Amino acid sequence: MEPINIGIIGCGVISDSYLKGAARSAYINVKAVADMRPEAAAAKAKEYGVTAAASVEALLADPEISIVINLTVPLAHAAVNQAIVAAGKHVYAEKPLCASFAEARDLLAAAAKAGVRVGGAPDTFMGASHQACRRAIDGGRIGKVIAGAATVLSHGMEHWHPNPDFFFIRGGGPILDLGPYYVTDLVQLLGPVKRVAAETCIGNLERTITSQPRAGEKLKVEVETTATALLSFASGATITLTASWDVWKNKRLPFELYGVDGSMLVPDPNFFGGAPEIAEQGADWAPLDISAHPFGVPNRELRDGRQVADYRIIGLLDMAAAIQQGRPHRASGELTTHVLEVLEAIGTAGAEKRWVDLTTTCAQPDPVPLGTGEEVFAA
Ligand SMILES: NC(=O)c1ccc[n+]([C@@H]2O[C@H](COP(=O)([O-])OP(=O)(O)OC[C@H]3O[C@@H](n4cnc5c(N)ncnc54)[C@H](O)[C@@H]3O)[C@@H](O)[C@H]2O)c1
Repeated sequence: MEPINIGIIGCGVISDSYLKGAARSAYINVKAVADMRPEAAAAKAKEYGVTAAASVEALLADPEISIVINLTVPLAHAAVNQAIVAAGKHVYAEKPLCASFAEARDLLAAAAKAGVRVGGAPDTFMGASHQACRRAIDGGRIGKVIAGAATVLSHGMEHWHPNPDFFFIRGGGPILDLGPYYVTDLVQLLGPVKRVAAETCIGNLERTITSQPRAGEKLKVEVETTATALLSFASGATITLTASWDVWKNKRLPFELYGVDGSMLVPDPNFFGGAPEIAEQGADWAPLDISAHPFGVPNRELRDGRQVADYRIIGLLDMAAAIQQGRPHRASGELTTHVLEVLEAIGTAGAEKRWVDLTTTCAQPDPVPLGTGEEVFAA
């Protein structure tokens, strides 16, 4: 595989994961970073020994950059994605792909016209534990999956993110912010969603920032912060998804799947590793071995001391390899757009008290080959 030159637009909190991921890769060269706040780009450029472009426009005009990662806030995603496409470059965006399904559909149309690819986060489903679960399901070890529960509950983001505003306005909320991890993993495991029902609410209309440097500032909450949804899959499975930033404590697991021949515990899809478990027929829970799959070894310590596997950027690496090899990429625009439609449908179903049929579908992304690291894409 030929090394690729990429650009990064948006130099906030999550850019660290991407800059570290790029530094680990033999194939990804960060040609330039940019931000609407030049001082943010300059700071990341200095920290990671890369170049800060003079402006977003200058980065987009660089003929040596072929793929641009969009790490701006959700409300800016559509315009920045469109600017990347208009510059004739492939776009890889953080989730949600756009703040609305209509914007994502327009983006796919513009990219198809320009002959460039669209890809986007999350790529955690390509991690070792989620791929081990996929292999076990495809191998029939729990039989046809008929039900399950995905749960992501906490008390919001204003206690850790330095600028938490975007979490509580259009394009934010736990459904659009954390839902992509769960629904993308469900789609890679089970296939596309057919229809959605939900109840939603806003737990607190106002929140107080407790993180620095803005501790004490109030935030107005404009989006639903609790959703209980039913996702009906084309495969016949029905999964409940409960997502909330109004819950102080709970003891629920992130992800359980029930098949006619067994059950499976899938680790937190916000990360690449973890310890999946399987119970086949009448047997007790047993660990599902993930060691033959790449991207599962812990490489990051969280604020609470947990060691997790964070290989954010491998979705882009797979897209770059796919472009060179002339094959579809896994974290594709079709997948992210279908997931966005599902998430938006949860909001619509909650507001209008009805089932919402989806208009899009997508193929299950191919499983990631067995191996130890990025060489699995380089064939
Ligand atoms: N923070 C996380 O842990 C995390 C994890 C996964 C995904 N994400 C996603 O990554 C994206 C960014 O999150 P973040 O936490 O890094 O946000 P952030 O607010 O820390 O950083 C966003 C950056 O984008 C810049 N920006 C905003 N609009 C811009 C525009 N139009 N042009 C150029 N630059 C612009 C801002 O100046 C800022 O530096 C979001 O979509 C978020 O959902 C964040």
